[in-house]
Amino acid sequence: MKEINLTVNNRPYRLIVLPHRTLLEVIREDLGLTGTKEGCGLGECGACTILLDGKAVNSCLVLAAEADGKEVTTIEGLADGDKLHPVQQAFVEHGGLQCGFCTPGMIMSAKALLDENPTPTEEEIKQAIAGNLCRCTGYTKIIESIKAAAENMGGK
Ligand code: FES
Ligand code: FES
Repeated sequence: MKEINLTVNNRPYRLIVLPHRTLLEVIREDLGLTGTKEGCGLGECGACTILLDGKAVNSCLVLAAEADGKEVTTIEGLADGDKLHPVQQAFVEHGGLQCGFCTPGMIMSAKALLDENPTPTEEEIKQAIAGNLCRCTGYTKIIESIKAAAENMGGK
C-alpha cells in the first residue's frame, strides 16, 4: 500500500493504493470518473487517454503510484459548468463522434495538441491522434472537428 496525492480536475485527493494498480483503475474505480474509458488495457487504443501534468498519456500504462504529486485532467475536467470545452463543442457540431467510446481519449489528445500547438497542420493533428483508435468514424470528421476547435479557439 502506498499513499499518494493527486490533483484531479483541480481537486486534491489523498489516496491509498496498491502498487500494481493503474492510474486508469484509480480514476474510474476509486474516483468514479468513468468518462475515461478502458479499451485494450495495453497501451494500444488510446481510449484511456488523460492529461498528466498537461501531457497526453495512456492511463492504463501508468501506475497510480507513479502519478504521486502530479496533476491529472480527465474529460470530466474540461467543461465549464454547462458550457462544453471548445474541443468538445466542435466534436458535437462536426460529427466527430458516433458510438462515443473513443471520444474522451480523442478529445484529451486533441486538447494536449492544441494547448501546445494552437494552429496545427492536418499532419500534426493526425500525428497527435495516431495512438487513438476509432472504429466508427473513419477519422475524417474527427480531424475536421479538431481543425474547427483550433479555429474557434482563435489560436489560444
Ligand atoms: S485502454 Fe489504455 S491504451 Fe487502450
Ligand atoms: S466513435 Fe465509436 S470508436 Fe470512435
